[in-house]
Amino acid sequence: MKAASSFVKLSLLANIVAAIDPGLTEPESHDNSAGCDCYMVSGPDPGYFQYYRFWDFRAVPNDGNNNYTIAPPPVISSENVGNQSITSAFLNTDSFNADWSIQNGVEDSTANVPTVNSASNVYISRNTSDPNRMTYLNLRAYRLPEFASIAEIDSNQENILHSSIRARMRVLPNLNPLIPGNNASHPVAPGACLGLFTYRSDTQESDIEILTQDPTNHVRYSNQPDFDPSTGNTVPGASSDVIMPNNTFWTEWHDHRIDWYDGISRWYVDGVLAVEKALNVPTMPSALVLNLWSDGGEWTGNMSVGANVTVGVQWIESTFNVSGANPTKRAEKKCNLGCRVDDVSNAGHPQVAFDVTSAGSTMRDGRTTVEWPLQVLLVLWLVYLFGKGVV
Ligand SMILES: *[C@@H]1O[C@H](CO)[C@@H](O)[C@H](O)[C@H]1NC(C)=O
Ligand SMILES: *[C@@H]1O[C@H](CO)[C@@H](O)[C@H](O)[C@H]1NC(C)=O
Ligand SMILES: *[C@@H]1O[C@H](CO)[C@@H](O)[C@H](O)[C@H]1NC(C)=O
Ligand SMILES: *[C@@H]1O[C@H](CO)[C@@H](O)[C@H](O)[C@H]1NC(C)=O
Ligand SMILES: *[C@@H]1O[C@H](CO)[C@@H](O)[C@H](O)[C@H]1NC(C)=O
Ligand SMILES: *[C@@H]1O[C@H](CO)[C@@H](O)[C@H](O)[C@H]1NC(C)=O
Ligand SMILES: *[C@@H]1O[C@H](CO)[C@@H](O)[C@H](O)[C@H]1NC(C)=O
Ligand SMILES: *[C@@H]1O[C@H](CO)[C@@H](O)[C@H](O)[C@H]1NC(C)=O
Repeated sequence: MKAASSFVKLSLLANIVAAIDPGLTEPESHDNSAGCDCYMVSGPDPGYFQYYRFWDFRAVPNDGNNNYTIAPPPVISSENVGNQSITSAFLNTDSFNADWSIQNGVEDSTANVPTVNSASNVYISRNTSDPNRMTYLNLRAYRLPEFASIAEIDSNQENILHSSIRARMRVLPNLNPLIPGNNASHPVAPGACLGLFTYRSDTQESDIEILTQDPTNHVRYSNQPDFDPSTGNTVPGASSDVIMPNNTFWTEWHDHRIDWYDGISRWYVDGVLAVEKALNVPTMPSALVLNLWSDGGEWTGNMSVGANVTVGVQWIESTFNVSGANPTKRAEKKCNLGCRVDDVSNAGHPQVAFDVTSAGSTMRDGRTTVEWPLQVLLVLWLVYLFGKGVV
């Protein structure tokens, strides 16, 4: 659930950090596995999808003297309009800016606790204890007396129509005794919501949400609307409070996934199906949003003043279709070289599942129901022509 009127920002400061052509459609160069024609996923309906992206935050090189070991200073009370600088060159590269907009500015001034997005809450961290000195993207939410300083990145691509999206992420445990509401069994400040979702409007939205007031193994999966604004009642079946499968906890690294198909949504953790829904499945082209917010409303609850929550994201992966006319050749491409996104040896590197191009003759561990009958028909047709003496 997004706070009301959140996506279309009223603030003039919104999007100040990345002025992007809003009509952006698929630039073929963004596809980082150009060899594949189409992409399949694990689960009951492998797809296929036509496009693929992988945004990897695990090996960000030092940015001059910034080795990503020190978090940007928290926003202070007087910084109540956002407008902070982007925290690193990495998050301001042309390729990052082409795909994502870091939100910066007032999000909802009328919430119980007003919300202000800040670019300073989106930053890279390096884990110096990790043997690979891995980096990851951080989102941070921080509660000030007058407002909550929150974080959001939005995809510039707004014409996604059906997708399978994943992020490897965790809410970082923090036992700092100065943070109210933390304890050993719940080492995270309550009152924030981590969201990964497709979004067009408050009634065209499909969510993965982690509420930090929930036990650390509960996750919320919803297709909006999940409540009736005229009565305030919840819509039965639109939102589920699910225990993460396979004894997992959101304070650990896991792959959180949402599949949006025509008429059905499915949610997974580490490739294990958690729940599916046919109710309120979005039907309209959408964008992708990752955010961490708190507005003192019933959904998030309140963060105590002084509390902060940080989320780590190793990578985000999306395979998707787009709506409408597409200027690239890709839309006309047939699914001849099919790649799978799941169960690969290296996340972010789809592997060939089948190859029916003229160059590759072997069928591997998958085939489309579309292409194979066409080939059979072609052979039958050639046999027919041969029989008539045409060939
Ligand atoms: C994606 O688009 C292709 C081409 O239109 C279509 O064949 C395929 O079924 C779509 N995939 C999904 C999951 O809707
Ligand atoms: C990272 O940079 C900080 C500030 O320049 C420095 O104090 C620290 O030693 C560096 N840490 C590592 C692991 O390089
Ligand atoms: C926002 O930041 C820019 C660059 O630092 C500055 O020029 C501008 O005055 C700031 N606007 C507000 C409303 O603080
Ligand atoms: C950093 O690495 C250490 C050692 O591998 C691990 O225990 C810790 O959970 C990592 N921290 C994060 C934020 O992933
Ligand atoms: C979170 O809050 C604690 C307690 O005030 C503070 O020590 C810590 O530096 C904060 N962390 C971040 C990332 O702002
Ligand atoms: C730990 O914190 C959670 C969330 O604030 C709370 O629900 C729980 O009762 C606390 N447990 C203990 C043992 O204090
Ligand atoms: C489920 O948990 C078990 C035990 O921790 C682990 O061995 C297995 O790989 C997990 N399955 C998945 C799909 O993550
Ligand atoms: C959160 O705190 C605000 C301000 O104190 C209050 O108006 C609101 O009702 C609280 N929200 C919840 C869910 O208790």
